[in-house]
Amino acid sequence: MYLTREEERIYEGEAGWTKKKAMEILVAIGDLNEAPGLIPVESAHVSGVSYKTIGDAFVFIENLDDRVVVDTTLNPMGMDRSLWSDMGITKEFAERQNRVLAAYSRLGISPECTCVPYLLGSVRPERGSHIAWAESSAVLFANSVIGARTNMEGAPSALAAALIGKTPLYGLHLDDKRLPRMRVRVDCALTDADYGALGYLIGDVAEDRVPLIELSGSQPDGDELKHLSAAIGATGAVGMYHVKGVTPEAIGDVDESYIEEEIEIERHDLDGVYENCNNEPEVIAIGCPHCSHSELKQICRYLRSEGGGEKVRKDVFVFTARRIRDRLRAEVREIERYGVKVICDTCYVVSPAFEHYRSLLTNSGKMKRYVPLICAGACVQLCSTEECIKAAFV
Ligand code: F3S
Repeated sequence: MYLTREEERIYEGEAGWTKKKAMEILVAIGDLNEAPGLIPVESAHVSGVSYKTIGDAFVFIENLDDRVVVDTTLNPMGMDRSLWSDMGITKEFAERQNRVLAAYSRLGISPECTCVPYLLGSVRPERGSHIAWAESSAVLFANSVIGARTNMEGAPSALAAALIGKTPLYGLHLDDKRLPRMRVRVDCALTDADYGALGYLIGDVAEDRVPLIELSGSQPDGDELKHLSAAIGATGAVGMYHVKGVTPEAIGDVDESYIEEEIEIERHDLDGVYENCNNEPEVIAIGCPHCSHSELKQICRYLRSEGGGEKVRKDVFVFTARRIRDRLRAEVREIERYGVKVICDTCYVVSPAFEHYRSLLTNSGKMKRYVPLICAGACVQLCSTEECIKAAFV
């Protein structure tokens, strides 16, 4: 891979050990993927923040001694920074989690701790901008819905890109790698959690091929595309999709010359993803990816119409970004009056606080895939947001 003189200088260690290590990571990835060189990025989003998943490897981050050079945000950590004790998080875990957070903050990374950085106005990239994001759901949303350009970065490569301000030019940064390789025809109307179910199925068959999704009569909103993105990222290895007539690179003429396979998805295929656990859910979790402003307002409306002044009868958790929670204080207070816990900075999957539940109801296709794998085989039932709230009062 070609390096400019300045980049070579960093590679040789003239800008310090931390930048040298970061440049070595970028060069190794660039060489592996036959990138011709590095391109500047506008922002980075770093995963590997929860002490539950990173463990004591965070000591490596404590030893880094430099600052990021582009706007950089963090994925969810293992606890809510204010409510960790109420969540049942131990002091030992909290102490180590705070060390992880401090290590990233010392590098100049904004401790937003959310998987929806694109919903925090100041962090949302523009169409066509090159970024280096980890967190598959955010990568798929950024590429597909916004039209920004990022590969599916891992925690080390996103951090390296943040420290150097550049990433290797390959994969989804290139026009032709963003063209559809398969067509998915959807033969039924979709709403709410159907998009998570659809993404769950598409990720499985698409593997690393960009799908062109053709919907019949449905017009997904931003929240539904958020769930579609997360579920495709959970079951597949592809970092982008198109929805014909909806996502920015699939409006008007689309170059379909690379399409090598077509599949159809019908209602009964989606129904298979909704299959029942056969046992009463112990807990209801909404907010994977983290809830948007409109989702919090919708939860509030459903609670009002289902609750009739009563409190929920099950454990119900709603996960969102702290900045979103702070903008919707009145709605959050109302949600909490029903006995629902609104949690920030973390999520059901990356926190150890929810591992004792054996059966879960959720509106998230991503949780349908991840919870059984990461939370000791718990059974997950997918249903619409409204059904989740109805079930909370049974
Ligand atoms: Fe976000 Fe956690 Fe889901 S990081 S996408 S809420 S698994």
